[in-house]
Amino acid sequence: MTGKIIGTGSCMPVRVVSNQELSEHMDTSDAWIRERTGIRNRHIISGEETTTSLAAEAAGNAISMAGIDPEDLDLILLATSSSNTHVPAASCCVQQLIGAKHAACFDISAACSGFVFALITAQAYIRAGMAKLAVVIGADAISNLVDWEDRSSCILFGDGAGAVVVQATEEDIPFYGVMHTDSTKAGALLAKSRHQRIQPAMEETYLRMDGKEIFKFALTRVPQVIHEVLEQAGCGVEDVDLFLLHQANGRIIESVVKKLKVPPWKVPVNVDEYANFSAGTIPVLLDQLNRRGKLKRGQRLVLAGFGAGLAWGGSYIEWQMDRITGSEEG
Ligand code: COA
Repeated sequence: MTGKIIGTGSCMPVRVVSNQELSEHMDTSDAWIRERTGIRNRHIISGEETTTSLAAEAAGNAISMAGIDPEDLDLILLATSSSNTHVPAASCCVQQLIGAKHAACFDISAACSGFVFALITAQAYIRAGMAKLAVVIGADAISNLVDWEDRSSCILFGDGAGAVVVQATEEDIPFYGVMHTDSTKAGALLAKSRHQRIQPAMEETYLRMDGKEIFKFALTRVPQVIHEVLEQAGCGVEDVDLFLLHQANGRIIESVVKKLKVPPWKVPVNVDEYANFSAGTIPVLLDQLNRRGKLKRGQRLVLAGFGAGLAWGGSYIEWQMDRITGSEEG
């Protein structure tokens, strides 16, 4: 048994916050942010929007594309580190919102590597015969974690959610995945929990980041993990059609492109519009490519996530959906 992706979906918050808007509240500028990160806008939750509402909407869009009945789902995995609920898990709230009453639900907390880790976990459950139809979601509202007075970090982040439906099949479809964690560098990207009996100072619960350390880490580990997963798959970088990297920052992506020596058009980017919304970036990019008709059956995709932990992971997928033609939706 292997799992194949049969539907993708996403949901981005309505409110768009531009660099210009940020520069009205803090000492920064559109030029500085664009030059250092490639980011122009980020989408930020407002009104009734939450991590779980975005996650449920993204899952619903993936389910509609897959044409399945939510009651047939037996697993919901939600990768998030910014859930609006502590108990129960955010995935339980999603179950209720999408009516997937037969699914077992749990969250995966692996920050920006979360979606890749969750997809590998879903595949492992399917291969073990423990699940047949899963929805895997990456959703985060990092706007709740950042300190909006810390210009060195808040400009990088946003909110959003993406999802895929994975179905067990007897077909022999290659899937490979690798996951790594090095907690000796955990301090480079850290936010203490607000859910403690002895409350930490509020400022300790904001996301704190050593930008240079994270930059160095990404430039080393991302090319490494891509080579590692490709070695498992028995192919080289030249055999890959598309690399879907976690959208942390345009400069990191450009540097990885150079290190891998692949043409930039094989490494799609949307960080300019959405910034870094952690576990959600890879599935949203996947969904946008899919709905724009950029994916077709048989293409070889490599996904790579990296971030707090420090954690990083990669997966190799052979795409099994037919190319979508016509208008964009969802
Ligand atoms: N606007 C204007 N100036 C800013 C600024 C902002 N938003 N943030 C920092 N600066 C200033 C600093 O205070 C510093 O000023 P100084 O030279 O007078 O001390 C100067 O800009 C350079 O700061 P520095 O931190 O050295 O910049 P940098 O080149 O390392 O870029 C990042 C900062 C955050 C953009 C960069 O380190 C980075 O992209 N790191 C990776 C972060 C990431 O992707 N994290 C998520 C991973 S999942």
